[in-house]
Amino acid sequence: MADEPPRWTPRTLAAQALGTVDPVTKAVVPPLHVATTFIRDPDNQYRSGYAYGRPDNATVRQTEAVIAALEGAQEALLFGSGMAAATSVVLALPAGSRIIASQVMYWAFRRWLTNEAARFGYVVDFVDTTNPDAVRAAIRPGTALIYIETPGNPLWPISDIAAIAEIAHAAGALLAVDSTCATPVFTQPLRLGADIVMHSASKYLNGHSDVIAGALAAARTSDAWERIRAIRIQHGAILGPFEAYLLQRGLRTLDVRVRTQATSAGMLAERLSQHRTIANVLYPGLPSHPGHKVAARQMSGFGAMLSIRLKDGETAAIATAAKVELWKRATSLGGVESLIEHRGSVEGPPCPPDLLRLSVGLEDPDDLFSDLDQALAAAGAPA
Ligand SMILES: Cc1ncc(COP(=O)(O)O)c(C=O)c1O
Repeated sequence: MADEPPRWTPRTLAAQALGTVDPVTKAVVPPLHVATTFIRDPDNQYRSGYAYGRPDNATVRQTEAVIAALEGAQEALLFGSGMAAATSVVLALPAGSRIIASQVMYWAFRRWLTNEAARFGYVVDFVDTTNPDAVRAAIRPGTALIYIETPGNPLWPISDIAAIAEIAHAAGALLAVDSTCATPVFTQPLRLGADIVMHSASKYLNGHSDVIAGALAAARTSDAWERIRAIRIQHGAILGPFEAYLLQRGLRTLDVRVRTQATSAGMLAERLSQHRTIANVLYPGLPSHPGHKVAARQMSGFGAMLSIRLKDGETAAIATAAKVELWKRATSLGGVESLIEHRGSVEGPPCPPDLLRLSVGLEDPDDLFSDLDQALAAAGAPA
């Protein structure tokens, strides 16, 4: 983590993108640097710090600095997607390393860990990381990384970051946390002891469903971090400058967006809990949620993702998604528009087939409730 606490809060720093201005024109929006190559000094040096666009880019660096400030990180690196960021953490480990990973996590990364990681010589143990004792019991000689997602897709279990950081460090392993759904506004994993925080920046950090990007931020630079940087360069995984520029723009409003979205999600979770057609609402902000106590301790807000399980099962879930008019029937999450998705159609088991995942956007929560209410009623009505 940076040694000196910054003078301004993360919210202030993000709103002004760290106060960066164009040094030439004094424009309050820093310029978008698109050049892929840079002039070498006559004495054969590259004093500007830039030589070629694959290792580095000034717009990418500016955006990384904003993310580092939000996470209390020493440094951040941006990638072409969340998957590129997450896989780079694993690929930076020595061959043969063991990894402990959350059982409930973004399905495509779980699939990569299951199907692809072994091809690189990694051994992955999926564990219920909501239970620190289970994590401790899974440590083996050679465990080099614990990778958790909290809240975890799509059931929103909560893993105790501080407790797992202690377990990881006692074993000489790194702790990486996918904090995509928590956002740096509500959780700062590095301050809780994690070594690396990961985001699909395609979600809340950008917030407008128009950029695919991934971010890693490190409490401190280390040999492992330098390996990650080398992998980004050598695998050509850096984010493009235009995407970095859009992401920087999105980050300016992150705080206000996610706070409003989380307030609406909390309200919807409560109202949907009373709904006659719903068997269960999964939202860490509800006292009935198994992870509520840990969430209340480690998060300053409960986020804007929730799932509902329908009493009438899969058919009712798919029919409800078919009947919404305001919610968008689409995958992904974290944008300003609310999304609804039958996750079972995407992931299959173990995702419960009666589950609908809701990403709450910035619309009026009363409108969102009334649209869901009519869709739930219409789905239950005889055809
Ligand atoms: C929690 C989480 N982590 C990682 C990813 C992967 O990110 P990307 O789609 O940007 O590669 C996603 C994508 O949905 C996600 O929801």
